Amino acid sequence: MKISNRKYEHLKIATKYPEKDYYTGFEDVLLVHEALSNFNFSDIDTSTFFIEKNISIPLLISSMTGGFKEAEKINRRLAEVAQKNLIPIGVGSVRVAVEEKKFLKSYSIVREVAPDVPVISNIGIQQLIEGGTDLAEKAVELIDADALAIHLNKLQELIMPEGEPNQSGAVDVLKEVVRKLKVKVIIKETGCGISKEVALLASHLKINYIDVGGSGGTSFAVIEGLRAKKIRDIEKLELSKKFSFWGIPTAISILEAKSVENVEVIASGGIRSGLDVAKSIVLGSCCAGVARPFLEAAIKGPKFLEKTISKFNKELMATMFLVGASNIKELKAKPYILTGIVRDWVFQRELTQSYK
Ligand SMILES: Cc1cc2nc3c(=O)[nH]c(=O)nc-3n(C[C@H](O)[C@H](O)[C@H](O)COP(=O)(O)O)c2cc1C
Repeated sequence: MKISNRKYEHLKIATKYPEKDYYTGFEDVLLVHEALSNFNFSDIDTSTFFIEKNISIPLLISSMTGGFKEAEKINRRLAEVAQKNLIPIGVGSVRVAVEEKKFLKSYSIVREVAPDVPVISNIGIQQLIEGGTDLAEKAVELIDADALAIHLNKLQELIMPEGEPNQSGAVDVLKEVVRKLKVKVIIKETGCGISKEVALLASHLKINYIDVGGSGGTSFAVIEGLRAKKIRDIEKLELSKKFSFWGIPTAISILEAKSVENVEVIASGGIRSGLDVAKSIVLGSCCAGVARPFLEAAIKGPKFLEKTISKFNKELMATMFLVGASNIKELKAKPYILTGIVRDWVFQRELTQSYK
């Protein structure tokens, strides 16, 4: 199957399969209500700084699409809302644009429409191992990006019928890319989370941001399992079922990554409300990425997308009012309580200390 067709199939399945209540860990992160504080709800300032630009809310439209006809319309809608609301935005893997020029516009439309926000390009580690720093530079240039996200997706590569579960040479290529690239580098999981060991390695490699892409949200094990079912690849389907719940839940992965000094963490994976965004910030993330809810809204139309962004914003502001934080810096300093699985995990993995 051509990659552009596969990308379209991912999008169709990702927005249709029933999203169950998978465990993100945010269920076991409690914030503390503060009954008295000296500011009005309307005084709350959600703005922050991300990839050298001011943004209005610590939200990110996560890397999703590009590389087929319909993707241009979706990316245009996402970029319009990103520009209007000053929200950073990522695109899906630009591999297709590198291989088929006719699809370039479906990605480059994002920078055209959103000149003032951080735009993040995207490529897989497998492609970088083959294409090296030249490919990394091209991925940035193609869409005039402010950063390059390099996705790590072992589980998807294992289950995807066309998968290439190869990582030999990955660390060397990452080291070279960070050395050569003039923009920020992000490593990003796509649903299985980042551990403190990987965060520590990333920190040694001087990678600027870690997007945890934890479990609990969109599951590529499920998506690839449904694709395998369609072509009757029973072995892959069985593998998908076994590993549908594999990974580090998002809230836990934030704590794993934040246990390493000097790393900037982006929360993502199952962020479904402004309350989840607030919890991500309190746990130490600089912002929170959202994929599926924005994609579904973008497909429905610009009005739905605006409404979804506004809902996230209002819920974040409500949480800030309730915990007594008038800005993002104050929110970061607020206390939190860990219960259940998250508390057990943090204790057993000794996540309170910093690993240098
Ligand atoms: C249709 C679709 C396509 C995606 N394509 C990419 C991609 O090309 N590169 C990438 O790094 N992540 C990709 N992702 C993963 C998202 O960026 C995000 O990490 C993941 O969906 C978890 O977020 P969510 O639970 O809010 O959907 C994709 C997600 C969806 C739904």
